Amino acid sequence: MTLLWQDSYKIGDADIDAQHQKLFDLVNTFLAATDKAGLTLGAMRLFKYTREHFAHEESLMRKLKYPAIKAHVAQHNALLSRLNAVADSIYKDTLDRADLASFLSDWLVQHIGNCDTKLAAYIKLQ
Ligand SMILES: [Fe+2]
Repeated sequence: MTLLWQDSYKIGDADIDAQHQKLFDLVNTFLAATDKAGLTLGAMRLFKYTREHFAHEESLMRKLKYPAIKAHVAQHNALLSRLNAVADSIYKDTLDRADLASFLSDWLVQHIGNCDTKLAAYIKLQ
């Protein structure tokens, strides 16, 4: 279960592209963990970095008065809720890694391809 980063996922904003690649790396490190301690640590790192990355995008959106901020932030919050549930399932030994891997892959590809691509286009217009 590895999420493969592809250059076609780049949206043309160097900072955000680098952050997205790091997110893929953190997801892969997390999914590769072999025990509960590793999963817990991986989940914590992924959660922390995801929040930092979302904060970066959201502060840009606020600064630029991005019109679609509400829908974009709602998607971010949905992912954070899901990651919160992951921490709980690690604790209870009920984590389904295959299910999570496909969810994260679908979410990232969809969100980057739609919401973040539109944001990058808006940034370029400023
Ligand atoms: Fe985003």
